[in-house]
Amino acid sequence: MRVGILTGGGDCPGLNAVIRAVVRKAERHYGHQVIGFVDGWRGVVDDDWIPLDVEACRGLLPKGGTMLGTSRHTPFNLGDGMSRATDTIHGLELDALIAIGGEGTLSCASEMSDRGFSVIGVPKTIDNDVGMTERTFGFDTAVTVATEAIDRLHTTAESHARVIFVEVMGRNVGHIATWAGIAGGATYTLVPEEPFDLDELCEALMRRRGRGRYASIVVVAEGARPRPGTLEVAEPPVDEYGHKRLGGIANAIAAEVEARTSLETRVTILGHVQRGGSPTPFDRVLATRFGVAAIEAVHEGNFGQMVALRGGAIELVPLQEATARLKPVSRELLNVAHTFFA
Ligand code: F6P
Repeated sequence: MRVGILTGGGDCPGLNAVIRAVVRKAERHYGHQVIGFVDGWRGVVDDDWIPLDVEACRGLLPKGGTMLGTSRHTPFNLGDGMSRATDTIHGLELDALIAIGGEGTLSCASEMSDRGFSVIGVPKTIDNDVGMTERTFGFDTAVTVATEAIDRLHTTAESHARVIFVEVMGRNVGHIATWAGIAGGATYTLVPEEPFDLDELCEALMRRRGRGRYASIVVVAEGARPRPGTLEVAEPPVDEYGHKRLGGIANAIAAEVEARTSLETRVTILGHVQRGGSPTPFDRVLATRFGVAAIEAVHEGNFGQMVALRGGAIELVPLQEATARLKPVSRELLNVAHTFFA
């Protein structure tokens, strides 16, 4: 068989580990040939690819980013992209395509599958928001980075009795914020799932200050939004793919909190630091399991599916269902975080 592989959307630690696992199992166990498309779906549209073999994947496992490059292009947002992608796939005589990505890349994979292409999806994103899988790789690495940052910010916040706002990624969901907030002992956490009330936040911070010279850490997901009418925030700019460029809401919140409470505030925006660097051991293992399962699905002709972690095991779920809706933080976990807001 000849199998294509691509990485699309924002990068994420563990992408290279998936590529390595697919190539290893394809070449050494099945005798299949793998080619890697450059810059995600853009490479399929432009017939831009490189051959991949075990040699080409040496040393890849601990490396962050993606050796193939990535973009937010899809055949559907690139003019005559669909017909060019079809030409590439037929011209290369590809038997299957493995698409590694988040919401955008996997929705495109689902659409391609509906149109008769043999596609398997692999879920990635540090946001952990892909449906029907308990985890995406990259998330554990991002939570580790965010928790380490919070641990460091505690000591400086305590020395100055300040309120430090830590903004983490999470455009539609607050998995990183909730996990890092609980792990880092945050005073308060703001997530997109629950529009926040600034009065409640200020009261919680003042209550805590009233009990002593306590500093506070407030974790803010970049996609957190105030309850309508409670705080003016600027609408983020939108890029050429309709993707909102988030980041910076913590600045507006901190300024307003300082104005209302006279508590001294500071802001740290972690940004792409959360997405860069080497994957944690958990993410390396999950990415490797996903890669092995993806090429197994290809070998068995199980197309239109996404590999997923469910109940601790790797399973296949229909791409269409997996991309139907994003996965929010569970009520149970939000309640655990709330326990410490008092
Ligand atoms: O989708 C993952 C993510 O990390 C989001 O949390 C974030 O908003 C976005 O990517 C930023 O992506 P970029 O700056 O690469 O466009």
